[in-house]
Amino acid sequence: MSRYTAGAAPRASFSVTSLKKARAWLSHWRHVAIFVFASVSVSVHAADGARAAIASAHPLATEAGYRILEQGGNAFDAAVTVAAVLAVVEPYSAGLGGGGFWLLHRASDRKQVMVDARETAPAGVALSMYVDPNGVPVPGATLRGGKAAGIPGVPAGMVHLAQRYGKLRLAQLLAPAIALARNGFNLDSRFARIAKVREPLLRDGVNTARIFLDNGAAPPQGWLLRQPELATTLERLAAQGRDGFYRGPVAQALVSGVNAAGGVWQAADLADYKIIERPPVRFSYRGATVVSAALPSSGGVTLAQTLNILEGYKIADPRDPAEAHIVIEALRRGFQDRLRYLGDTDFVQVPVARLVDKSYAHSRAASINPNVATPLDALTITPLAAATESYNTTHYSVIDAEGNRVGATLSINSWFGAGLIAGDTGVLLNNEIDDFSLGAGLPNLYRLLGGKANAIAPHKRPLSSMSPTFVEDSKGVLVIGAPGGSRIISMVLFGILDYVNQDHVDLLRIVTAPRYHHQCWPDLVEIEPDSFSDGWRKSLESKGHELRQVNRKWGNMQAVFKSSVDGAAMAGSDPRGFDMGGY
Ligand code: DON
Repeated sequence: MSRYTAGAAPRASFSVTSLKKARAWLSHWRHVAIFVFASVSVSVHAADGARAAIASAHPLATEAGYRILEQGGNAFDAAVTVAAVLAVVEPYSAGLGGGGFWLLHRASDRKQVMVDARETAPAGVALSMYVDPNGVPVPGATLRGGKAAGIPGVPAGMVHLAQRYGKLRLAQLLAPAIALARNGFNLDSRFARIAKVREPLLRDGVNTARIFLDNGAAPPQGWLLRQPELATTLERLAAQGRDGFYRGPVAQALVSGVNAAGGVWQAADLADYKIIERPPVRFSYRGATVVSAALPSSGGVTLAQTLNILEGYKIADPRDPAEAHIVIEALRRGFQDRLRYLGDTDFVQVPVARLVDKSYAHSRAASINPNVATPLDALTITPLAAATESYNTTHYSVIDAEGNRVGATLSINSWFGAGLIAGDTGVLLNNEIDDFSLGAGLPNLYRLLGGKANAIAPHKRPLSSMSPTFVEDSKGVLVIGAPGGSRIISMVLFGILDYVNQDHVDLLRIVTAPRYHHQCWPDLVEIEPDSFSDGWRKSLESKGHELRQVNRKWGNMQAVFKSSVDGAAMAGSDPRGFDMGGY
């Protein structure tokens, strides 16, 4: 009997039908991997002696990345191409108007670095733009229109990657994205579904109806989407490097478009945007080395804290109900410190070394009762209504034949971002300002609370949960990450636990296994629908946990693995992303 359960197997949620859909969607892995489906048990095998692997949220991006590898590019080149194609084919999740983090490993000198391309708040930003004098948030101010948008980092990040780490010319790397933007591509079911959900935003947004709607309505699957203006912006980037975006006509159009929609951008905000190379967070978990995103992403620190706590327990399967209790308590403590302490370290002092220290974890674990959920007493807050917006982001993972690796999580925050395309740039802007904390007790879209450390300030980068991660052990190297706001951290946590606990790497299990989430506040455990048995729920409820089944599965994890035994590489994509209606 599965160790997941105290009752029926939660794995039943991944039915044979679902798996057939997954197989169809995953067929673009043919370069490197084949799936063997036997009844409901699934595994993935490297094929053809593949030495490289790419997992991304869209087959066109994955294909384009492989073609760059075939043309002599390395993982960093492929990472630029994948990001650029995703900007065209998944414009609702990430793109030139957004930001993100690229976690890199260079095989030649084992250099590991996080390329921080997170959005920055413009110089003219002020809290009063988002909160009225009574401390009440201005509806929608952090989510829609010009005030919601931070200064994008993705274009600078792509140029940085190509120039510092790549082998091929930027123009070659951007060519596939330019062609897809100019000639168009047929919308897949995921795009059509998301456009339908966001139809009101796209109808009312700036320039969004003109580009993304079909006569004012969400377009159907198969509709040809052409983005000639985005193609021209990509061409300027290809020809002029970062100046093609951050100075000149594109920059001018961005500033005037954002400000016409209520923003406060200045030309200098764009011209002065900086990519920052930061040392990643590195820690050990049961003999594996974990390397993950540094602040301003909370991912690495919160994962380190949570896993340090879990190291003191025997966690063989985080979905076993007794072990789930401990995992939830570890997440509770990790997220509590997130909201207390974490923010952009270029602006606030964060006691990172202390937080990730194993002895600190030991002291935090001392209050865990193996039988009872710890009550939330430290936080006195006034809960607001739960957020109802849907959200999106994208993660991809690349590993090449030499062993260079890239884990990238990129975002414009919620689906179709701020609903604002600046002028004729074709650039859909982010609403990442929502990731700042507007004040005590004021949760953001992901119901995350925050403190002064994550207060809004000019040029500051909002605290993120995006967590591109490497896990290295005697089996090899895993590169994982996912979209999903605050749930990214628990998803990646499970990915690490599942990987470390497997003797033989089962990537499909890593990306498909059921998920639950806890983030300290609100004090409840979210669970995916149809994923956990009644017995499982009762076991946790009897310990005092409040469980809430949400209406959709979440995440779109993209993982690659390279074996240290034979160098074989394989890729795993979360079937939730495409056909299972997940976020
Ligand atoms: O940086 C963050 O944590 C969020 N802006 C990420 C948003 C996200 O993952 C939405 N995805 N589903």
